[in-house]
Amino acid sequence: MKFFVDTADTAEIADLAATGMVDGVTTNPSLIKKSGRDIMEVTKEICGLTDGPVSAEVVALDHESMMKEAEVLRKIADNVCIKVPLTIDGLKTCKALTSDGTMVNVTLCFSANQALLAAKAGASFISPFVGRHDDNGFDGMKLIDDIRLIYDNYAYETEILVASIRHPVHVLESARIGADVATMPPGVIRGLFKHVLTDKGIEGFLADWKDTGQQIG
Ligand code: E4P
Repeated sequence: MKFFVDTADTAEIADLAATGMVDGVTTNPSLIKKSGRDIMEVTKEICGLTDGPVSAEVVALDHESMMKEAEVLRKIADNVCIKVPLTIDGLKTCKALTSDGTMVNVTLCFSANQALLAAKAGASFISPFVGRHDDNGFDGMKLIDDIRLIYDNYAYETEILVASIRHPVHVLESARIGADVATMPPGVIRGLFKHVLTDKGIEGFLADWKDTGQQIG
């Protein structure tokens, strides 16, 4: 399963990239706001930190304006992936952009039928929001399971990009189901490294090592 970082914080992306865990980056208007930076400038910098897809989201609501914004965003770098909302105009834009080879991430997906529409529109990625689904009393991971089944039934190549991940169990379940990508806030990726027994084990080994009085090198 690929790991994308869900942030526009370039220091975090650079630090995590050094661990080899970063296969791409997702941003959205809220994350750009949080960064306090200009979308063009920060997206360009992010594109230089990974060879993988970097999702940059349009904010227009009609197809024609979405196409204009996509044209601006895709010139930033070759690895920009245009993010569009799951609306009729968003899917028109998806179809037009993917037909000429541009990567498209269809975002704000909350049903398996919506994911089916995105695949039919040729989306490179579908982003079901599991955390927001859970927050509203639905089962976010069941949504991923359904989309996996449907995509496999028809051999759709659209990648399932699990979004709105809140905790490591979402990541574990995504991998069990066979999602293609999990996009995670930096804190969730860092949380995956942690285990209380790892920390305890290091502590014990270091205590015993100290008693040997030895040094390596
Ligand atoms: C990623 O592409 C999404 O925009 C993001 O995961 C949404 O996460 P949130 O529900 O925590 O805002």
